[in-house]
Amino acid sequence: MNAPIHTIAVLGTGTMGRGIAHVAALGGYTTRLFDVSADALAAAEARIRKNLDKGVQLGKVDSAAAEKAKSSLSRSTDLAATVDGSDLVIEAVPESMQLKIEIFHKVAQHAPQEAIFASNTSALSITEMGANSGRPKRFVGMHFFNPVHLMRLVEIVRGLETSAETIGVIEAVAERMGKQTVLVNESPGFVTSRINALIGNEAFRMLQEGVASAEDIDTALKLGLNHPMGPFEMVDLVGLDVRLSILEFLHRSLGEAYRPNNLIVQYVRAGRLGRKVGKGVYHYDEDGTRVTPTPNSEKTTRRA
Ligand SMILES: NC(=O)c1ccc[n+]([C@@H]2O[C@H](COP(=O)([O-])OP(=O)(O)OC[C@H]3O[C@@H](n4cnc5c(N)ncnc54)[C@H](O)[C@@H]3O)[C@@H](O)[C@H]2O)c1
Repeated sequence: MNAPIHTIAVLGTGTMGRGIAHVAALGGYTTRLFDVSADALAAAEARIRKNLDKGVQLGKVDSAAAEKAKSSLSRSTDLAATVDGSDLVIEAVPESMQLKIEIFHKVAQHAPQEAIFASNTSALSITEMGANSGRPKRFVGMHFFNPVHLMRLVEIVRGLETSAETIGVIEAVAERMGKQTVLVNESPGFVTSRINALIGNEAFRMLQEGVASAEDIDTALKLGLNHPMGPFEMVDLVGLDVRLSILEFLHRSLGEAYRPNNLIVQYVRAGRLGRKVGKGVYHYDEDGTRVTPTPNSEKTTRRA
């Protein structure tokens, strides 16, 4: 029997964890943040407060709800104390199966027996994490999107042993966080990462073949297919290294259709990792504004 959810612990407070804590607190949950880095914790809490204030200024968040959310946040570098008494533990540490298994092993020693565990992994196996957590029926994937406080979807990922009751509880939690959910049976890359990897890879293939410039491929998908972002704008945001590792994983698990295109491999080797380093498919200045035209872009658009 799963207990009602009052307190949520978020493990790892980087890009995703801080966003998950934001929507958890705004959903009315007592929200505890844990990270190995005290600096990351302080930065995450400051960022959540700033984003809540911005929401109020824009008229999107009620000011009383924002104040209540701020007062429901706490942070700690003590994992045992964070998960003790938590009803739901959501993990958002770096994408490594070994690290995630180690963390859930420790969490299981201190969290209540009936607590639900969730992972925000982009692609790794929920079934494998669940099997190593000692509570496979109460283990589930909650795949949020960046930036979490603005993106509406949560993919709920059902591992082989995840119970229907756990899925029901998590659907209700996501709804209280203001999200719409889809239910996905565990499969590499779920729905979103799998489709996105394929579109992004094909875009690199077209760029390499000289079919069109990066700008024109992006414009074609935005204006012709109604995508809110072009595939190169998207990969620069996600990180070319992150996208390449997802493609490599999908290639191993799903086959040839996902073989990473040579051009993305070369870009990663050249250190063109995207916005985070100021240079990916496009170039960015110090404020993060795109430099147009992108230096050397015509080189990749000329047919051989
Ligand atoms: N970035 C995205 O767009 C995105 C989208 C969906 C899912 N994800 C997934 O979310 C997870 C987190 O990604 P992110 O982009 O937020 O990473 P990130 O690097 O921004 O943050 C990771 C945080 O985890 C902390 N950390 C490292 N080791 C830890 C440990 N042992 N215990 C606790 N905290 C630890 C780090 O200090 C850091 O604050 C990954 O599994 C990733 O695949 C990312």
